[in-house]
Amino acid sequence: MRAAPVPELMLDPSYDPNTDASSSREAIGLGSAASAGLDVRHGTILTLEDISVSFDGFKALNNLTLYIGVGELRCIIGPNGAGKTTMMDVITGKTRPDQGKAFFGETLDLTRMSEVDIAQSGIGRKFQKPTVFEALSVFENLELALKTDKSVWASLRAKLSGQQRDRIDAVLNTIRLQSSRNRPAGLLSHGQKQFLEIGMLLVQEPQLLLLDEPVAGMTDAETEFTAELFKSLARQHSLMVVEHDMGFVGAIADHVTVLHQGSVLAEGSLAQVQADERVIEVYLGR
Ligand SMILES: Nc1ncnc2c1ncn2[C@@H]1O[C@H](COP(=O)(O)OP(=O)(O)OP(=O)(O)O)[C@@H](O)[C@H]1O
Ligand SMILES: [Mg+2]
Repeated sequence: MRAAPVPELMLDPSYDPNTDASSSREAIGLGSAASAGLDVRHGTILTLEDISVSFDGFKALNNLTLYIGVGELRCIIGPNGAGKTTMMDVITGKTRPDQGKAFFGETLDLTRMSEVDIAQSGIGRKFQKPTVFEALSVFENLELALKTDKSVWASLRAKLSGQQRDRIDAVLNTIRLQSSRNRPAGLLSHGQKQFLEIGMLLVQEPQLLLLDEPVAGMTDAETEFTAELFKSLARQHSLMVVEHDMGFVGAIADHVTVLHQGSVLAEGSLAQVQADERVIEVYLGR
């Protein structure tokens, strides 16, 4: 666990160590080594069965059952308040379900693991708002994400191994920020910050990536690049993508799950769920 945050780094006035930002910083654990032995013998990377979550009697998730296959790129759609973000909170250990099963692979019981352990086991999550360190360079942000076991300054002082450097370089290419590697992250566009944050997950080599509304606020070109990026990440990784942008969903999804009132309303190809009367009724409109 990291010591108290370093004040100099908090030049971003919106940075609040008690919110998602800090939990996502902490949550970027070393996924690769720990997840190398993940048991996926049945081809399922994520199992959610009969999950319910109540907030003051209101059921945000209601007997939710959903499976994600290894290497799948799954899109989750559904109206505001359907429970999409709450589902990701359950998977990452931020919210404990009142009932139900949540397993990563065959054996890791997510309902019994801490947020940090879940991240270290190979689940990476990207929140909607980018939470990069604005005062640090693009490269340094990736470096920090790789070495979360140390305090910020100890991390920056510790020498990178050649292998770590190569990994960061590969990620810089993947997220197309190679030419901005030495720029302060605060100078990046909103979309580039989002790509950097995806890169900060990728250096950990997570097996499962959870992305909540990744293209919100992006330009058309950035959205197109994100679609390409996610398609290139699938198979090597499993992805769960929550999005309202149907053009984007159509560009990437092979399989779509529609959530409504905390349960699965429909599942299938985008064409199949778009033709479903109940989905049209509650979400897509007539
Ligand atoms: N911590 C909380 N306390 C109380 N109610 C909550 C909490 N978190 C979520 N809710 C409620 O649970 C329901 C599901 O919320 P959630 O954020 O999961 O929906 P969502 O599908 O992600 O919606 P959106 O598309 O707007 O992001 C909503 O009615 C929300 O107000
Ligand atoms: Mg949400």
